[in-house]
Amino acid sequence: MHVHMRGGVQSEKEDWQSGSRSALAGGVTVVVDQPNTIPPITTESAFQNRLKEAQAHSFCHFAINSGADVNTPVESMWKIGAAAFGEIFFAPSSYGEAIGEATLGQVLERIGGLRALATIHAERISPIPDRDLRSHDKARSSAGEAEAVHAVNRCNQSGCKVHFCHLSTPAALDAALGSVEVTPHHLFLSREFFGQDDAFLKVNPPLRTERERKALWERWGRIDVIASDHAPHSIEEKHAPFVDAPAGIPGVETMMPLLVAKVLERIISVPSLIQKTMTTPAALLAIPEAGFNVGNRADFALYPKTTVRITADTLHSRCGWTPYENCRAVFPGTVVMDGSIIYQDGEFLKGSPQWFPGHGYRNADRQST
Ligand code: DOR
Repeated sequence: MHVHMRGGVQSEKEDWQSGSRSALAGGVTVVVDQPNTIPPITTESAFQNRLKEAQAHSFCHFAINSGADVNTPVESMWKIGAAAFGEIFFAPSSYGEAIGEATLGQVLERIGGLRALATIHAERISPIPDRDLRSHDKARSSAGEAEAVHAVNRCNQSGCKVHFCHLSTPAALDAALGSVEVTPHHLFLSREFFGQDDAFLKVNPPLRTERERKALWERWGRIDVIASDHAPHSIEEKHAPFVDAPAGIPGVETMMPLLVAKVLERIISVPSLIQKTMTTPAALLAIPEAGFNVGNRADFALYPKTTVRITADTLHSRCGWTPYENCRAVFPGTVVMDGSIIYQDGEFLKGSPQWFPGHGYRNADRQST
């Protein structure tokens, strides 16, 4: 439900071909692309260009979100096929400018009027030096995240349907009035695992402490969606001094393999994993459900019952690195999309990737026919 496929002028980090292959090799057949591209997806022409780029190069199914700032024509973005709005940056992050509280309230009212979903990046930032993983965690603190969630709740006077992206703490999950998403990196990594000046682990919201990471697993039942927030940056960019390095972690290929390993360990169940990575995201975005019933999208992946150690050399993202080096995971041997094998034992086969527009597009379509 949450990837940054990059492309365009950011193709050195990733593009639709490398990003979608990375998704498939990890057992993901649909990606939902975020609008903090260069240029951002806040105009009809930027949306149409993004769509053409995805249609030309994606190997997997996809949907595309629209940005939502005060000048975005949200009504027409909805009609031309945005799946949802956002992530709307309630705090600035890589390539995303922050929106103020008053503006957020107005934008939510317009999105709510369309009965569309607003997806929100909720953080509060303190002006303290941000020199390493610890100070990054302090500058974008757990308490600040929960406060930001409360502030979004207050701004949403119109009752727009809200989805909170990548929440990193139990307090934020508990505060949210809306659906909640958690990433694999907040479930599997804590800032204490790494050297303090390691900018490869710089991400927004930040990695938290080991105690908070474990507490997040205890809220498994409250988590509606697990999404990768796949945010690739090049090795050269991540080698910059911590303060200058871009925030973001790649993860679309390792998300399901890490979680399937937890199924083998009997920490989580297969139905709960399917619910959080497919059924709920599909329902939130009106994407046809995958499954084995007549009429379902015939997308599935076959996983062996053995784990391997993750190594960046075998992954497909152009960024060429992973924070999960050496972690145990279960990669799919075969991935099926629309009833046809699309990936098998390291080889990609030709499929027919589809675009899933939001239901604003379908309504507009029906009216014109
Ligand atoms: O760390 C992040 N990187 N958080 C975001 O919300 C955006 C992302 C990116 O696009 O690099």
